[in-house]
Amino acid sequence: MAERPDRSQPGTLGDLSLSVHGGVALDSTQALRTPLVMANSYQLPDDPSEISWSATAPGLYTRNTGVNQAALETKLAALEGSEDAVALASGVAALHAVFFTHVRVGDHVVVSDVVYEATWRLWTELLPRRYGIQATFVDVTDLDAVRAAMRPETRLVCVEAIANPTTKVADIAALAGIAHDAGAILMVDSTFTPPPLYRPIADGADLVVHSLTKYINGHGDAMGGAVLGRHELIQPIKADAMVDVGGVISPFNAWQIQRGSVTLPLRLRQHQASAQAIADLLDADSRVAFVHYPGLPSHPGHDLATRQFGGRGYGGMMAFAVDGDPGAQNRFVAHLRLITSGFSLGHDDSLIVHTGAEGPRVATYPEPFRRLGHLRLSVGIEDTDDLLSDVSAALDATFA
Ligand SMILES: Cc1ncc(COP(=O)(O)O)c(C=O)c1O
Repeated sequence: MAERPDRSQPGTLGDLSLSVHGGVALDSTQALRTPLVMANSYQLPDDPSEISWSATAPGLYTRNTGVNQAALETKLAALEGSEDAVALASGVAALHAVFFTHVRVGDHVVVSDVVYEATWRLWTELLPRRYGIQATFVDVTDLDAVRAAMRPETRLVCVEAIANPTTKVADIAALAGIAHDAGAILMVDSTFTPPPLYRPIADGADLVVHSLTKYINGHGDAMGGAVLGRHELIQPIKADAMVDVGGVISPFNAWQIQRGSVTLPLRLRQHQASAQAIADLLDADSRVAFVHYPGLPSHPGHDLATRQFGGRGYGGMMAFAVDGDPGAQNRFVAHLRLITSGFSLGHDDSLIVHTGAEGPRVATYPEPFRRLGHLRLSVGIEDTDDLLSDVSAALDATFA
């Protein structure tokens, strides 16, 4: 039988081909799809005494790496263009794994002032209070402020390429330079900007985190998270946060996410085309108080996003509010027929969630967010015209 060519090398294939073939290897069954292996334990050699408890290879015990986890990690590394990857139980497990493994008592971290809720809580409450690790929150679009926040003991800079929920865009190459000059590492949560839209490692990021629950799986039916980067940074995460803390991904979720990832570039095209059309519609409507989408020329990060993402798009996420009182946001959502109110994002179906104007996290958001609250819209892969009709009809009904 002919040997299959190695199709996993980034740069040798286009993005669509890479999503289909990247990192895919046939196993002994020769099945063209990676089989699902629902086993916790594997037969050991006659003398297992040489096997380390902290081993991070498949074929031992599923918390030390399952077969489907390993296949997913190979695929994700190929898609992201990274040397190594670890897949964990959720995006938050991946974030925690980075912090737990790479930050020590007495260290300091610099964190973007707009980050996902759990990252915010980990760095405002849990890690400082329990482990005495100090965090400084800064506006990462102000590079002088980031430089000024760095200390001799700063170990990690933690940002989102497009921030949840305001869509603030971070200049990853510039931030990598600042982090490295200070002897720190840069971690980029790239959940809003999956490959091929963006590959932060090429701009100097040391670690990339994804909630696989979102775009990479894409179908709203599995949870997972991943950390990608150089072997020397990923291996300790596997040994410490995966084997010893146990945030391992289930074989079934790994298998499902690997399958979902195959159509990622195709889905992204549709997410982005519809997001741009909806943002344009909202931006032109006087009943809309504000809309933040990096694809709008009025967005403060538009030029940076155009350059940084190389013209491949601006993602499928936006934040906006309709005019009037804070209650108008709920009325608008109640009038939507196709777009569903739901917490997640990056799924095939469009999801919207209303966040109020109160709370410490909202205090760092731009002024209209603090006055009206906001609606975070994850644009799905439905027909663009159907989504535009849904938004238009809901606007009309809200102001009827
Ligand atoms: C930017 C970002 N990072 C991480 C997460 C956490 O992912 P998960 O829900 O898979 O734990 C989310 C979830 O919404 C997110 O938006």
